[in-house]
Amino acid sequence: MQPINTNSETATSPTRQVIVAGHPEQLLPGRCIAVDLGDGTELALFNVGGEFYAIDGYCPHRGAPLSEGYVYGEVVECALHGWQFDVRNGECLTVPEKVRTYEVFVEDGLVKIEI
Ligand code: FES
Repeated sequence: MQPINTNSETATSPTRQVIVAGHPEQLLPGRCIAVDLGDGTELALFNVGGEFYAIDGYCPHRGAPLSEGYVYGEVVECALHGWQFDVRNGECLTVPEKVRTYEVFVEDGLVKIEI
């Protein structure tokens, strides 16, 4: 799936930066997209039953893009070797590992992520 371009930064402070990930209708329930952070990295953004969750974009095992993984409810399975992560809290269900999570909220009709 094509990454969302996040050139439109909406708020910045020394401790808080918020990016616009796109419109809610761009991400249907059960789907995942990559969110390009513009610095060569990306997040993986999920819609789980109408709730949005964002995690680090790359698997901690060998760096595969998690946005290209297989989504089963609140779990994403890495497409490369099958490690599974709960997108709600970043916990790996396969090995003792974790990916970072990010706050996602809908404001003014846009999905925004605090990074
Ligand atoms: S790169 Fe994700 S499980 Fe190996």
